[in-house]
Amino acid sequence: MSKLAVNGGKKLRTKAFPTWPVHDQREKKALNEVLESGNWWYGEKVKEFEQKFAAYQNAKYGITTTNGTAALEIALIAAGVGAGDEVIVPPYTFVATATAVLKVNAIPVFADIQPDTFNIDPQRIRETIAEKTKAIVPVHFAGLPADMDEITAIADQHHLTVIEDAAHGWGSKWRNRGVGAIGDLGGFSFQMSKNITAGEGGIILTNSEELADTCRSYSNCGRGKDKPWYEHYLLGGNYRMTEFQAAILLAQLTRLDDQVTRRQENARKLDQALSEFPGIEPLKNDPRVPRRSYHLYCFRYLAEQFPGVPRDRFIKALNAEGIPCSGGYPHPLYKNPLFQRKGSGPKFCPLSCPYYGKTADYSQTHCPVTEKICEEAVWLTHNLLLGTEEDMNNIITAIHKIINNIDELR
Ligand SMILES: Cc1ncc(COP(=O)(O)O)c(C=O)c1O
Repeated sequence: MSKLAVNGGKKLRTKAFPTWPVHDQREKKALNEVLESGNWWYGEKVKEFEQKFAAYQNAKYGITTTNGTAALEIALIAAGVGAGDEVIVPPYTFVATATAVLKVNAIPVFADIQPDTFNIDPQRIRETIAEKTKAIVPVHFAGLPADMDEITAIADQHHLTVIEDAAHGWGSKWRNRGVGAIGDLGGFSFQMSKNITAGEGGIILTNSEELADTCRSYSNCGRGKDKPWYEHYLLGGNYRMTEFQAAILLAQLTRLDDQVTRRQENARKLDQALSEFPGIEPLKNDPRVPRRSYHLYCFRYLAEQFPGVPRDRFIKALNAEGIPCSGGYPHPLYKNPLFQRKGSGPKFCPLSCPYYGKTADYSQTHCPVTEKICEEAVWLTHNLLLGTEEDMNNIITAIHKIINNIDELR
């Protein structure tokens, strides 16, 4: 008789995990305040959130935006990245990390990741630096900070700008510094799946007053600081956050610390138990990371240790036991039709234009670690980590059950 639920056996868990997003009277009260105030756009709540969030990540300045994609685009423009420049990015990330680069007419160049952190590998960055390299965009994937010691050292040596894609990094620290505030600029996302959210939203952090003023201008129609309202200095746009978004985010921020702590505690339990299972490898814990946001809990499923059972069959079995999880990105970014020029994406500028002087050809790009991780990764979303000890035990027991009965999946 089958033991595994996927084959008709008894399902291990029927209870739901904590759902996301969470809200209570705090969001309702704050939203109502904005509604009644008569000021629905950029005002006191946005300013308060910008100050509080920047301080939370140890940055001097915060400039809110409509979303995390806009935050990255504006950060790149403010840093002076443009036509003919190359920007080094990892291929294991959401598409916005690379499309933000294309949007400012620059060329993303992919540097492979480390298998035990899923973050950009500093050694690969070194090998990728060329004459046209202008910036590095490390992603703190799933909230685990990239190696900022190495990345800032490389950037200093080669006079490159560092723009952190901290879209998953709310609360994460590298040594004693908040991510997103370590490089020249950092961008965060508050889209609905994110650990603090207003449905959509973003913020740019920086410690440079000059960069902060430039970002503000680009996000606010190119206006100048303390200048007449209808005088426009830069080719900006309207990327402003509303008071409603800021009101929700301020309420969400009051819970963030406790939630980060809870996710860390639960992740530690999973790490301890799962690392005992041969063929299951949680991501590395780096002693230089005192605090980690855990947008996702990730582990590797080493298929060679389970011959005849590909990762996706393991995930299907885990889902059937009542544990929601996925395999994440199906392929490295450069395999997308956009980069392979099989879609209606950029065909000429910026991929080939006079400023660049050559043509970017991603059909030749090969990042073997990322390609392997796309086949091995298992992602659990952060809301699961807000669960109880029993919830974590269910995750562990379900994985154990599948491994014990792996023959059923062959
Ligand atoms: C790594 C990363 N960068 C950038 C973004 C873009 O953020 P947004 O969706 O707010 O535009 C996301 C969003 O999913 C992301 O995961």
